[in-house]
Amino acid sequence: MKLAPSILAADLTNLAGAMDLCEAGGADLVHFDVMDGHFVPNLTFGIPVLEALSKRTALPIDVHLMVSQPERLLDAYLKAGASWISVHWEAATHLDRLLEQIRAGGAQAGVALNPATPVDVLVDCLHRLDFVLLMSVNPGFGGQAFLPHVLDKTRRLRQMIEQRKLHVKIEMDGGVGLGNIHQVTAAGVDVCVAGSAVFRHQDPAAAMRQLRRLSTADAS
Ligand code: DX5
Ligand code: ZN
Repeated sequence: MKLAPSILAADLTNLAGAMDLCEAGGADLVHFDVMDGHFVPNLTFGIPVLEALSKRTALPIDVHLMVSQPERLLDAYLKAGASWISVHWEAATHLDRLLEQIRAGGAQAGVALNPATPVDVLVDCLHRLDFVLLMSVNPGFGGQAFLPHVLDKTRRLRQMIEQRKLHVKIEMDGGVGLGNIHQVTAAGVDVCVAGSAVFRHQDPAAAMRQLRRLSTADAS
């Protein structure tokens, strides 16, 4: 299991400190939520913040673009240091072209699906993906409750991947914490995003280690 703490829940007056905590806790990726106030009702971080943080940490940064028209700024996010990028299926008109652009920029290419979007929409692009991000809350805010019906969806996606002998990773984002990470990884999730569960804990590095311990050992 790869752990990707979401810095949306970190102390926003000290993002450099959040990078240090991710490193101290043994995070695999840093999850960076981009919201545009249009595709989702909230606004978060942009390109200059990504550029600054990517210089401050050796950890790969996983950029989750919750934006309309992701093609407009994709190259800028790639240049600013994104190692993984996901675009929302619901926001992408020319998805295939976007995936090509992410790959050409040297990053891992992913598609994010809202909770109500079925995994079946991926049938003709799954083989072109490095990862699928399944939203387990409605995107826009941290600290929301996990939507358990997404576990069924995860199992169906895992089956699609295995039947076709692909190596696509499944990432889960929203409401993942100490109480459900075991179930989440048992359903076939490879990458767990955790915001509140890490940064609202009194000892974020210890929370990361605990999340890893509670995940199933067989997920890699
Ligand atoms: C929600 C974001 C998530 C969020 C997760 O729209 O995409 O990445 O930071 O936060 P928690 O883990 O608190 O639900
Ligand atoms: Zn996210």
